[in-house]
Amino acid sequence: MPIKEGERVYLQLEDGKKYLIKVERGKFFSTHLGNIYFDQVMEKEFGEEIYTSQGKKAFLLQPGIVEDIFHMKRRTQIVYPKDLGFILLMLDVKENDRVIDVGLGSGAMCGALARLVGEGGKVYAYEKREEFIAIARYNLSEWGWEDRVEIKEKDIKDGLEEREVDALFLDVPNPWDYLEECWRALRGGGRLAIVSPTAGQVMEVLRKLESLPFRGTEVWESLFRQYKVNPSAFRPTDRMVAHTTYMIFSRKVLPSACSSDLKEAEN
Ligand SMILES: C[S@@+](CC[C@H](N)C(=O)[O-])C[C@H]1O[C@@H](n2cnc3c(N)ncnc32)[C@H](O)[C@@H]1O
Repeated sequence: MPIKEGERVYLQLEDGKKYLIKVERGKFFSTHLGNIYFDQVMEKEFGEEIYTSQGKKAFLLQPGIVEDIFHMKRRTQIVYPKDLGFILLMLDVKENDRVIDVGLGSGAMCGALARLVGEGGKVYAYEKREEFIAIARYNLSEWGWEDRVEIKEKDIKDGLEEREVDALFLDVPNPWDYLEECWRALRGGGRLAIVSPTAGQVMEVLRKLESLPFRGTEVWESLFRQYKVNPSAFRPTDRMVAHTTYMIFSRKVLPSACSSDLKEAEN
């Protein structure tokens, strides 16, 4: 099937340089190896090659979630694929789930959650700053997930409106202040994930989690190293991203499991 107007294409030039572009009839995209004419792109299918105005080869690839995230508009720190994939699995997010995302920021995690919950699920995304909401809305609509997300311009300190949600993702500087509210919003056994970049934040969260009806707490960090894909000089790349965030996971337990600490959470 030919590529359509409005579709996004992940263009890979013959020198390896990559761009995420959106096809617009009658227009072109300039690169250092010449122009790519969109009318010619619309005569091709994904996976095919095309030539720039300088006769250089390029491939027309389909962007996936990783390219979406690396090329998204952003004004905030985002959760990178390195951590994001593990968080989604630890939260066990699946079709038809109802999940909460605080704070929405530029919407990287929100988009990934929306993709997994499917048409029958919902992501309730809280963000206190209007300007970030505008960016996240733009990203979500580019990816086609906006119908699955209900954005709330609200500070979590004023409460979460949902109850019995399956999973909750918390990405704010002071998560320990909101753990009671997270407990109220989750269903029994519902999963909580928190990202915090510094050890002091993690310790604060752990102290608070210990005092509340959450169990099965785990803390993880992911260490990833990329490799040069040269078969005759295969080795790690010169630089690596050493630290992005710590990831804290826990689960809500119910009154019969621990009645004394529940009373505190309910108040
Ligand atoms: C690091 S960014 C979130 C990035 C996002 N998770 C992503 O993957 O793109 C943190 C966001 O939380 C928002 N935020 C901080 N405190 C908040 C609060 N109390 N209530 C709602 N949003 C909050 C900030 O405005 C910021 O946009």
